[in-house]
Formats: sequence, C-alpha cells, structure tokens
Amino acid sequence: MFNQARGTVAPLPADDVAASYAAFGTSRMLPRLAYVDPAVYDWEQANIFSGWMCLGRGEKFAEAGTQTSVETGAGGVLLVRGDDGELRAFANVCRHRGHELVPCGVTKQTKSIVCPYHAWTYKLDGSLRNAPGGFRDVEDFDKTQFGLAELNVVEWHGWVFVDPSGQSGPFEEHAAGLEQVVANYKPENLVTVASHSYTLETNWKVIVENYQECYHCPSIHPELCRVSPPQSGENLEPDGEWMGGWMDLEAHATTMSLDGTSGGVAIEGLTDVEMRTVMYVVAFPNLLISLHPDYVMTHTLRPISADRTFVECSWAFPREVAERPGFDPSYAVDFWDLTNRQDWAACESVQRGLTSPHAIPGPLAPEEDGVYQFVSRVARAYAGLGRADDARPSMKAEDVVPAEGAPSVDEATV
Ligand code: FES
Ligand SMILES: [Fe+2]
Repeated sequence: MFNQARGTVAPLPADDVAASYAAFGTSRMLPRLAYVDPAVYDWEQANIFSGWMCLGRGEKFAEAGTQTSVETGAGGVLLVRGDDGELRAFANVCRHRGHELVPCGVTKQTKSIVCPYHAWTYKLDGSLRNAPGGFRDVEDFDKTQFGLAELNVVEWHGWVFVDPSGQSGPFEEHAAGLEQVVANYKPENLVTVASHSYTLETNWKVIVENYQECYHCPSIHPELCRVSPPQSGENLEPDGEWMGGWMDLEAHATTMSLDGTSGGVAIEGLTDVEMRTVMYVVAFPNLLISLHPDYVMTHTLRPISADRTFVECSWAFPREVAERPGFDPSYAVDFWDLTNRQDWAACESVQRGLTSPHAIPGPLAPEEDGVYQFVSRVARAYAGLGRADDARPSMKAEDVVPAEGAPSVDEATV
C-alpha cells in the first residue's frame, strides 16, 4: 500500500493533491473527486488495493480444503487451506482457458480445486492433478507446467493479508512496528463470536478518516463519551504502513460497553495501561483493529465502487469465555453496532455532501492529526510520491512521556 511500486499519478489536479499533503495546520482535505470519481477509484484499485491488504480473519479458513475467493485490484484471489495446515493464495484463474476456479464471495470445502468449466483439477497446493479428456494422449504435456499462480499471503496474528501484485515488498516492512502494539493481545488466540456485515453508501476513505478522529464523538456518540473521554489519548508515529492511537477508559469503565462493564474476561498478559485504554489501529489500507482489555474488534473494508463500501465487523474474545455455554457477547456487540451505525450515518452523509460541486476541501482541526496522517499519505500516493518524514504531525518521540507500561512511541516505531 502506498509504496507506489508502479509509480503512476492519480487523475486529479496536482495542486489540489499537493494541498492535501502540505504541512499539518495548512493542509486541506482530499479533492472531492477522490471520493466520487470512478477514475480515481480505478486508480486506487490498481495502485493501492493491489498490494498488501487484509482479507479478514484466518479462522474462517481453518479446515483443510476450505476455499474462497475475493476480488482485488489485481484480479481475483483464491485462498485455500492445505492438508498441511498452510494457507495459500492463488490467482483465481484456471490454467486451461481462464475460468474462475471459485466464484467471487463463495466459500466451499473440497479435497481438491476443481475448475467448473472443463474440470481441470488441482491439488490444494496448487499443482495440477488432472486434465481430463485427451490430454493424457498429448505427447509432452507436462502437468508440472500448469500449476496455479501462487501469490504472497501472510497470516499475521489471526488476520490474512495478501499482496496480489507481488510488488509490495516484505510484509514485515509493511507492518513495521505494529507487532509491538498488537502482540500483547494475542489476537491469534482469540475466537470470533459475532460478526456483522454492512454495505455503506460511502467511499472507503471516508470510513478510515472517521475512524481516525474523535472530534465528532461529542456530536454523535453520547454513549461512547460516557465510557471514554473523546479528547483522551495520543496518536502514534508508525514506521510501517499503518497508523493508530489510544484512548482512555473512564474511571468507572472496564471496557467499551453501554454501562462500561464487561461480560467477558480480561485478555491475559495485558499491561496496566492496556487494561485502562483502547487502542485503535488502521493497518493500511483496509483493516481497522480496535484492541480492548477484554475483546478485539475488527473492521475489514472492501471498496465496491467510488461511493460504496462493504464492511465486515467482527468481535473476538478469549477462548475461555467464547466457548463458555451461554456466553453473551452483546455487551460489546450492541455497543459497537450502535456506534457503528452512528458513524455510518455520518459517513454516508459526508458522501452525499461530497457529490455537490460546491464541496471544497476543508481544513483539519488540531485534534484531527490522525486524519492528516491518512490523508497526507493518500495524497502523496496520488502524486506518485513515497512517504515523507514530515507527513507525521503527531507527537515527536522526545515529546512523549508515556504512562508506565504504555505502548510508547519509540516502541511502536521500532
Ligand atoms: S477453463 Fe478451467 S478447465 Fe477449462
Ligand atoms: Fe465515530
């Protein structure tokens, strides 16, 4: 994401784009066409949603033989769990005449991968097992030459990331520093108990921008403000392709729920500070991770068009409560479903507003530094530029005196 391996420039006025990565305090939001123009959407698909991106939780594909496919900016991706437990990603295209192997969005479980068109059959590792019909009589037909095209895939703390372009560099660089922020929560050990799907009438960037600030919280989230002070916390200065910051819990609250109480148990091994804060992370471009003392919430975004985005939101809990008979996750699910819907209403309203030709990019408030981090990086990508050190408006390492045990800026940027 944003590494501009292909280096093309987005179809937007250069001056407007430059205004979005000007210094914090003087910058402007992205040009409105970035949110409404199909040509910009196509550019983003080719240049952003073709590199490392999240396809959701790996738990869904735990069983050997599970196969599913997802559309990306670099074509369909087929995910397959092998007999050896490995999750592999392939281009979702048959080596015979190009039929899709699994229809987009379908999940199935079979012992091999069978093309629906002429029944070429592949092993779960992608190698060609059988080409029916006369191929066995074709001299020199070498099955080893017709395995599926394998793509880069990583399972990271329970989330699946793919790089269908193969040009996004090592995942370790993409996620540099994120390990220290997430590792203590051991998300790979948590069990997803609930998930909601939403199709929003808004551009994917509006959702990310909204997630990165609580400037709007006093206006639209009365329930959230009762359990978490909207102006608390700070943003981190990541080295990798992610961003994030934490917020405090109110003194009476042990987690984010309507009354601040938890119906679960604390995740084992968290620091005192992690027990009193919620960490919000955007793993670019499309994964939002909300780390609570007792559960982890995930939003995975999939742009459908310039003005539509599919969002899957899921909640994962420690196994000991997730498997407890009668465990009720609604204290977390209901709180965030309510908050999600408040956010979605705002995001969809922003999208409708941006259809007006009179929508001129506005300035950012001091507490919208997280929005600036995102917008300036997208804008630099539009301009064909890489990251800039000066595209980091939030706290400098020397200014930060984190509370004991807090995920310090230094730790978070190793
Ligand atoms: S296209 Fe797949 S078997 Fe013919
Ligand atoms: Fe919100």
